[in-house]
Amino acid sequence: MINLANDHGGYSLGMKLFSKMVEKKLHIRHHGCCSSDISTDYPLFAKRVVEEVQFLNYAVGILVCGTGIGMCMAANRNSNVRAAVCHNITEAKLAREHNNANILCLPGRFMEFDDAWAITKTFLKTKFSEESRHVKRLEMFQ
Ligand code: RB5
Repeated sequence: MINLANDHGGYSLGMKLFSKMVEKKLHIRHHGCCSSDISTDYPLFAKRVVEEVQFLNYAVGILVCGTGIGMCMAANRNSNVRAAVCHNITEAKLAREHNNANILCLPGRFMEFDDAWAITKTFLKTKFSEESRHVKRLEMFQ
């Protein structure tokens, strides 16, 4: 299950990604917000996605705000959340392989849809490497 949310700054890119994933028949839910016209508070939308992915190994999240940074900060305050802002497919691949990231954060105001979609596809298809050095480092988060 993919859980996507955006604030007003991430609305345009978030909705384009959501539509694309619906078109691709991916199992996705949108958790708001639904306009770029009203100023919203990104921690509220981060929380909605966090609650969906926090304790489910098979669930992932996508959070889009203006920079991706605020969403990432808000998400990472929660246990079992490993959120990463990714600006290219290499970062998306490594965020999954090395960091077992379960939430992808994207900068809606600074990224074109084609790049965001390529990054999202990479994030969704890449698995955690399970290498012991990475497992050990993630356990040190506790
Ligand atoms: C909203 O103006 C903006 O601050 C937000 O979308 C995000 O970029 C925060 O990190």
